[in-house]
Amino acid sequence: MPDPSEIVGIIGAGAAGLITAHTLVKDGFPVQVLTRDRTPGGVWAAERIYPGLEINNVHGEFRFSALGMPPPSTGSGRLGGEDLNAYMKAYAHNFLHGCIRYGVEVEDVSENPDGEGYILSTRDLKNGKKEQLRFRRVVLCTGGCSAPHIPPEISPTAAKNMGFKGPVLHSQEFGKQKEDVLAACEAVQAVIVGGGKSAQDIAAYLANHGTKVLVIFESTDAVLACPVPWPDFIRRSRVLSIMSPSRQLPSLLEQFLHKTRLGAKIVHGFWAIVSFLSFFALSIPPDSPLRRSHSIFWSIRTNDEGIPSPTRFHSLVNKGAISLISPARAIGFCSDRRSVRLADGRAIPAGAVILATGYGPSWGGLLSVQTMKNVGLERHPPTVPEMHFHNLNYASLASEFNPTEPGRNPHDTEGQWASALYRGIAPVQNLAKRDFAVNGAIFTTNNGYVFETVAHWISSYFLGDPLRLPPTIDEARMETEKNAAWMRKRHPGMLGWANESYAASIAFWNWPQAMDELLEDMDLPANRSGGHWLTWPFRVIDLKEIANLTEERCAKRSLDPASSPRGMGCSPSAVECV
Ligand SMILES: Cc1cc2nc3c(=O)[nH]c(=O)nc-3n(C[C@H](O)[C@H](O)[C@H](O)COP(=O)(O)OP(=O)(O)OC[C@H]3O[C@@H](n4cnc5c(N)ncnc54)[C@H](O)[C@@H]3O)c2cc1C
Ligand SMILES: *[C@@H]1O[C@H](CO)[C@@H](O)[C@H](O)[C@H]1NC(C)=O
Ligand SMILES: *[C@@H]1O[C@H](CO)[C@@H](O)[C@H](O)[C@H]1NC(C)=O
Ligand SMILES: *[C@@H]1O[C@H](CO)[C@@H](O)[C@H](O)[C@H]1NC(C)=O
Repeated sequence: MPDPSEIVGIIGAGAAGLITAHTLVKDGFPVQVLTRDRTPGGVWAAERIYPGLEINNVHGEFRFSALGMPPPSTGSGRLGGEDLNAYMKAYAHNFLHGCIRYGVEVEDVSENPDGEGYILSTRDLKNGKKEQLRFRRVVLCTGGCSAPHIPPEISPTAAKNMGFKGPVLHSQEFGKQKEDVLAACEAVQAVIVGGGKSAQDIAAYLANHGTKVLVIFESTDAVLACPVPWPDFIRRSRVLSIMSPSRQLPSLLEQFLHKTRLGAKIVHGFWAIVSFLSFFALSIPPDSPLRRSHSIFWSIRTNDEGIPSPTRFHSLVNKGAISLISPARAIGFCSDRRSVRLADGRAIPAGAVILATGYGPSWGGLLSVQTMKNVGLERHPPTVPEMHFHNLNYASLASEFNPTEPGRNPHDTEGQWASALYRGIAPVQNLAKRDFAVNGAIFTTNNGYVFETVAHWISSYFLGDPLRLPPTIDEARMETEKNAAWMRKRHPGMLGWANESYAASIAFWNWPQAMDELLEDMDLPANRSGGHWLTWPFRVIDLKEIANLTEERCAKRSLDPASSPRGMGCSPSAVECV
């Protein structure tokens, strides 16, 4: 039996929870994963996915090093929701047998008043049984897409109050209710509210099933597409990350591109070409509402469409199978009980309404205000004015290049916050205690690589390994403030909707630089894709690079056993689950 006083409690069995648990188990920690779902995978759990859901990422980018990802089962050559679900299931089965408790909702996390660790108040969703579980350490992996965000004026309750006849549901429920929607829309169009990826996937699914679809949105996600697949040496190398300014600017090439005016012109020329090619590949006419998209350079909302396909959203719009109203905002239901009301007064007939209105913070119902305070998770207004961070004056971020995002005010005060998580992982205030961390709060285009590297960082942090950490809380706080100032500068207007529960830090195209920084924190070699001075930007970044991090970290620890107080062994330990 593992020592119960050492158990790590992991909340969430999505991608982040699974890799965190596996990494900690390999380092000898007993773990228990809690999820309210019935199956593993989080966003990709069997009960959450629906046919037609495909992922954005180029094949291979959303997986972990210990398990290969079979090629896509969908005809389109892209990984589908089913592929991701099968992968998550296999991962949980292979590496975390018996470690996961399903159907358990965590209702509160608080510090243990009688000593070390944390008390989790849980409720069993099958029988309502409440329990208090004590864990020595806790990792929050609750994700950014588990709590639906629904504007109250168009919510299912609002629909009921107006006596609206058809089904009204959030996109998260679509998998379960798709038959109802198809049945309700035999004679009348389905109305989808929102312009993001869920809206597009669901619109395409319904149109492909012969339903008339209308999508209402203010602005839509940026889109990446290409007439032929992007070659790996561009799409899976460091090229996009170098063309995007990072906080670190680790190479001379990046310093040239982002700190000089000539460099900045090259950078913006590059993204203009990418954007032009994407619209061209998808045949989006210049006057189409689909041009009301965020800019690929500034935004953190970009969908990678890969090669255009006749059964996907953009082609279906071009064919007239999906209609659009934009810019427009749905503000309620009409008294005829069959229509949706727009802000401009129009009434839009609807057989069913799907709210693809995104997701809200996942910490809301989970952490009391007191815990947020005690653990130090509370975000706060920035305390240091931006001008004190003069090294943020990048030429590539100069105002001459900075358009106002459609539907966004760059001076949005809602976006003026600083997260309290150092590196997007550990609460600053709690940093020295090394017993609380978050995985899944770094917003990125490569979740597989990022979640896995973060999991190692967390394990080293918990083990008490030597880790480059700021020596004082004040210094750690200053570092997160700088990061917040950087995020505001890099992605203006974007923090208004991003929440620290999934975007405490943003390493969108720049995940390679951010992960190199974490590797350096662990005193491990970074910049692992290799190459020489000319070829390094084009070398494919492969997950194999981080496949042996457990052994590498262990070898470091053995060199200096005294530095690691817990002295965990290096040999792969048996899985210890409770
Ligand atoms: C429709 C959709 C499509 C997406 N497509 C892509 C894509 O193509 N590419 C991409 O990179 N990303 C995509 N994402 C983003 C996606 O969120 C991430 O890719 C990733 O899956 C997040 O993993 P996670 O483990 O952080 O969180 P999640 O997968 O959300 O897992 C959260 C876990 O926490 C549990 N949980 C939360 N609160 C509690 C509680 N109080 N008690 C108990 N358990 C709790 C949940 O049950 C779940 O197990 C998509 C998201 C959605 C919704
Ligand atoms: C993010 O979450 C915090 C609490 O965790 C909340 O105060 C804030 O309003 C949320 N912001 C958005 C944009 O949802
Ligand atoms: C990565 O390594 C190559 C040599 O292999 C070097 O030329 C390059 O500058 C390095 N890049 C970074 C970001 O450190
Ligand atoms: C990882 O370790 C295994 C076994 O020790 C070895 O065979 C493999 O080559 C290593 N992989 C990398 C990328 O270093």
